[in-house]
Amino acid sequence: MYDYYLGGSTNFEVDREAAEAGLQAMPYARDYAVANRAFLRRAVSYLANQGIDQFLDLGSGIPTVGNVHEIAHRHDPHARIAYVDHEPVAVAHARALLDENPLVTIDEADIRDPKAVLRAPGVSQIDFSRPVAVLAVAILPFVPDQDEATALTAAYREACVPGSYLAVTHISQLAATDEQVVAAEEVMARTPTPVRWRPPEEIAELLHGYELVPPGLVPTPSWHPDQPPSEDDIARSNAYAALGRRV
Ligand SMILES: C[S@@+](CC[C@H](N)C(=O)[O-])C[C@H]1O[C@@H](n2cnc3c(N)ncnc32)[C@H](O)[C@@H]1O
Repeated sequence: MYDYYLGGSTNFEVDREAAEAGLQAMPYARDYAVANRAFLRRAVSYLANQGIDQFLDLGSGIPTVGNVHEIAHRHDPHARIAYVDHEPVAVAHARALLDENPLVTIDEADIRDPKAVLRAPGVSQIDFSRPVAVLAVAILPFVPDQDEATALTAAYREACVPGSYLAVTHISQLAATDEQVVAAEEVMARTPTPVRWRPPEEIAELLHGYELVPPGLVPTPSWHPDQPPSEDDIARSNAYAALGRRV
């Protein structure tokens, strides 16, 4: 569905049907996906400029233009990137695309099981005695229970040394009406991956233990924008973003 919203070609009829149903329910779905992906690019560039050379991308999805390793390797060709997704088709496509670069891996694992993720073959090549950037971009809505989601980010935080980072984006109501949020949650409840929209206060709880890089938790287009976003761009993104540094 996400690949379809981004204009990608790695999607099937069943995905397109669900994505169109998603657009009926939530006309901002495309704006959300595009703003999210643009944040990912800006956050990875920021992190690479801070000297981060290890990335753990949770729920990396079907590889599409501007993948994390492409952005990171523009800054540092020796950066290590471990992708993780639980969706076998996304993982198979990623494997086929990632060819032979030993610095870039993809593991099939469920992010709700941090122990399994951390011992997956690709992830275990990360040197956790040095700073790591954990990317939880458009993934935490798939962990609807708030206690489970906070425990999850805490588990990844504990695996990382101070100086590590957590990047988060999360769907949240801005321009969407209450009816659109309910309808969008209903569409996703019919897929294998139900989601929950969170208000900013609940998203902030997921970043516990991290010092937020200015400007903090803000609508996705407002985080280190290339150009100042319009009010309309901000509202249509229906998501918040933050980058936290482990202290
Ligand atoms: C909206 S896409 C986001 C992709 C990418 N992070 C980005 O922002 O461009 C969400 C991805 O998370 C994956 N996903 C959902 N729940 C997951 C879970 N429990 N464990 C691992 N991956 C999961 C889905 O298969 C999908 O590829």
